[in-house]
This record gives sequence, C-alpha cells and structure tokens, in this order.
Amino acid sequence: MRSVINILDLSVEEIDALIATANDIIANPKKYSEVCHGKKLATLFFEPSTRTRLSFEAAMYELGGHVLGFSDAGSSSATKGESVADTTKMVNCYADIIAMRHPKEGAPLVASMNSKIPVINAGDGGHNHPTQTLTDLLTISRKKGKLSDFTIGFCGDLKFGRTVHSLITALARYTGIKIVLISPDELKLPSYIKKDVLVKQGIEYVQTDNLEEVLPELDVLYMTRVQKERFLSEEEYIRLRDSYILTAEKLKIAKEDLIILHPLPRVNEISVDVDDDPRACYFEQALNGKFIRMALIMELLGLKAE
Ligand code: NCD
Repeated sequence: MRSVINILDLSVEEIDALIATANDIIANPKKYSEVCHGKKLATLFFEPSTRTRLSFEAAMYELGGHVLGFSDAGSSSATKGESVADTTKMVNCYADIIAMRHPKEGAPLVASMNSKIPVINAGDGGHNHPTQTLTDLLTISRKKGKLSDFTIGFCGDLKFGRTVHSLITALARYTGIKIVLISPDELKLPSYIKKDVLVKQGIEYVQTDNLEEVLPELDVLYMTRVQKERFLSEEEYIRLRDSYILTAEKLKIAKEDLIILHPLPRVNEISVDVDDDPRACYFEQALNGKFIRMALIMELLGLKAE
C-alpha cells in the first residue's frame, strides 16, 4: 500500500498532478464533495498541531468522508506503552487512511511498514513534513505561475525546521532554483541535507546570517519559527528565538513581487504589521494546505471525481 513518508515518495510528475487536482478543487469544490463517501481518515497526532490536523480533517470532510483519531499522545494508549507498530495495526481495523504526526523521527515510516492502509507523514520530529511541502509548492506555483527559475531564502531555524528540510529536498528536483540559507550559526541547515541534496543535485546555494543583505535578491522568502520543542536548553532557545524579525520597514528593500511564506505558527519572526502587505502569503498558504491534502487523500485512496 502506497504511503507518503518523504516528499521523494512522490515523483515530480505526481506532484504536478496533485497540484492540478488541487487547482481544480479550488475552482470546482462541489465536484469533489462526495468522492470519499464512506471512507475514514484516522488522524494520529502524538505532537501538537493546529493547521496540519485541522486541514487534514477539513479536507476529509470536504470530500464527504469521516474522521477519527486523537490530537494528543496523552489521550492515546501510547501512555500505556503501546508501540507505534501496534497502534497502527489497530487503526488498520478502523480506518482507510492514516495521517500521523510524531515527535520521533522515523515513527511514520515504522507505521507504514506495519500498515495495509496508506500512511501520510504529518511531521516527524525535526526530520520531514511532506504535506507542508506540497502546500508550499501549490502556493508558489499559484503565486509565481512556475516551480522553476527563482531565488528562495529560508530564514530562521534551518537546523530543526522539518518543513525546510522537506521543501529544500523537493525544490532540488526543479531547474533554476537558487537557495539562500539565512540562519544564526547554531541553527544552520544540517550538513547531511547540504551533502545529500544540495551538493549531490548541484543546487546553487549560499549561507549567511544577514537577512537584510540578501532580501533584495529574493523571489520567495520562507520564514520559520525557532523550534522551541527541539532544544535541549531553554537558555539557548531564549538566546536564539528572536534572531530574525521581519517588519514592514525591513521589507522596503525587497522585490515588489516577492512572496513571503511561513508554515505557521508564527511567534515573533514576522511582525503583524507585515500581514497587510500584499506580499504576505502565509494565511493563503494555510488555506492551500486543505486543498492539496484533499488531492493527496484522493490519490492515495485511488479515488477520482466523476
Ligand atoms: C510546522 C511544523 O509542524 O513543522 N507547522 C505546520 O505544520 N504548519 C512548522 C512549525 O511548527 O514551526
């Protein structure tokens, strides 16, 4: 059974097809309102989430399906010591597809190896977040009309930010992408991603700690939250959390057609005075998350609109 654990589990052609379906859902939502009639999505969230879980749930409801699950590991049998493998086998008895978020890297992969129904990784530790990447790609393609030939800056916590890891991995398969990595020294992109993705695929990239210096050359700015929950020391988190704060004032030097993305939740890294700037796309990006998840659920269940 087909699962999506890593964004590379989907080919570029499959991603193009998902984006096309999502665009059609946006244009003709009624056409899709019964596609998942009688089907059940289990959302197994062992880690906090607002957008990802609710957008998965809204996606399934808008496809005419049902949702069951839990939003807190504390209310599941994980507290009694049940393994991810056993929980997955149980849920196979009750649902047709699983979306799983887990603080441990690799947990959704283990689930997929113990599942007869598709498993979607809804974020595993500081590792991967493929459905956020699909959301990001849909947003970039709708805003820019293409997924090639642009310069994208990733700013903030590039070490623990799983959305950054997945999006960089995805973008490395398109042409003409230039990547600017903006972070404090302590939160740099892990070297395994630089080596296995950027260097291996010959992607042009630069690293800096200075956002203002590179802002004028960016077509896309991907801001991220410093991932508090992955830090071993609270002190270190407090020292780094406000490394970058994007403000309306700073944006004066940016391109007119820049798009600003953020997987959300935001803490301090984008000032609210940026929200009214037409270049701010993060709330629209959150909405797109529902449409692309609808497309993915349909695809993995092998269902199509009439
Ligand atoms: C992200 C995540 O969970 O990795 N949120 C999301 O899914 N939209 C980003 C974050 O928590 O900072």
